[in-house]
Amino acid sequence: MKLMNISLFSGVIFAFLIIYLGSKENTVNYKVQNEKSVMGIERSSYGVTENDEKIDVFKLYNLKGIQVSIITYGGRITAVETPDKNGNKENVVLGFKNLEQYEKPNPYFGALVGRYGNRIAKGKFTLNNIEYQLAKNNGENSLHGGLVGFDKVVWKVEKIEENETSVVLKLSYLSKDMEEGFPGNLKTTVTYTLNYDNSLDVLYEATTDKTTILNLTQHSYFNLSGDFSHTILDHVVEINADKFVPVDNTLIPTGNLASVDDTPFDFRAPTLVGKHINSKNEQVTLGGGYDHCWVLNNQGKGYRSVAKAYHPDSGRTMEVLTDQPGMQFYTGNFLDGTLPTPNGGVFGKRSGFCFETQHYPDSPNQPQFPSTVLDPGEKYETKTTFKFSVN
Ligand code: BGC
Repeated sequence: MKLMNISLFSGVIFAFLIIYLGSKENTVNYKVQNEKSVMGIERSSYGVTENDEKIDVFKLYNLKGIQVSIITYGGRITAVETPDKNGNKENVVLGFKNLEQYEKPNPYFGALVGRYGNRIAKGKFTLNNIEYQLAKNNGENSLHGGLVGFDKVVWKVEKIEENETSVVLKLSYLSKDMEEGFPGNLKTTVTYTLNYDNSLDVLYEATTDKTTILNLTQHSYFNLSGDFSHTILDHVVEINADKFVPVDNTLIPTGNLASVDDTPFDFRAPTLVGKHINSKNEQVTLGGGYDHCWVLNNQGKGYRSVAKAYHPDSGRTMEVLTDQPGMQFYTGNFLDGTLPTPNGGVFGKRSGFCFETQHYPDSPNQPQFPSTVLDPGEKYETKTTFKFSVN
């Protein structure tokens, strides 16, 4: 009898201990002070690179909405889990299972892109009468910052902050003078802020000690269906742009800006991505689909709403706000079924789209385009927001 009591007693203590530890586990990483305090940020190890550098993953979450995962390798967004119209949460950005896969060649999945997002003709430009030659990583041209761009470097964690209605992760990277051929020691910070309204702000800041060029962007591929075996052709897209940047057969701008009137580039009203993507239009053919920079309207207004994507079946919607003059809308035309999804499938052609807010491609060689020059003493500062909701 005595023995039974002791074992019953220890059983009860054990059960309490489990419940206590369990609840501690649940509360240790976020604060629930009032209805709005459902936001938090968790840090854990994501592995070690080939060069023995430790990589962390941060989960920024809003228990009433979305969760964003970001790794310090390339400052890459590896997942954005968002609810559909029935409240089912799924990841809506293309990503890989582990660090090893991110280190293998891949088309900038989720990455911070710099120093120059998009293409520069023949990888050359001139500043103050000095000609600079960049690495070419796209045949003739340079693309997305060279061979080891900002997507492949390890970002330092500058700040982690939990506020009542937002959580903040600030990353930094010092790109040395002439790294990848660009002049100037460039100090860059990128601050990701997840807000209670399910918007993710990306704030880019930089300074240089020599005149240089700069065009930073975020290269996430979205598929709002949450099903990567599904193309994005059934997404409805709206882009507030009367013009776009036509390109030649190496995807370098011809130098003119063309009207979207009566072309497959007119997304001023909500339009199915698949509607004209296989059209015989010369520009669509050159891109193998959409792979162009749209000249965003209301440039004088600074930060403004510029685009939306909506997936009717799931109800998921994403709005983009930016102060940038352009946005590359890329429909994943070069994805070819060779890269693995995290759950055993492959990323097929057009299984994701990018909304890369930026300056126009090849601006350093196109004096008629808005300037991408950054001088010492100046501060580069630009903000883009991806806001998720359900309709
Ligand atoms: C470019 C595409 C390129 C992709 C991946 C996009 O920003 O516009 O042409 O294939 O990035 O590198």
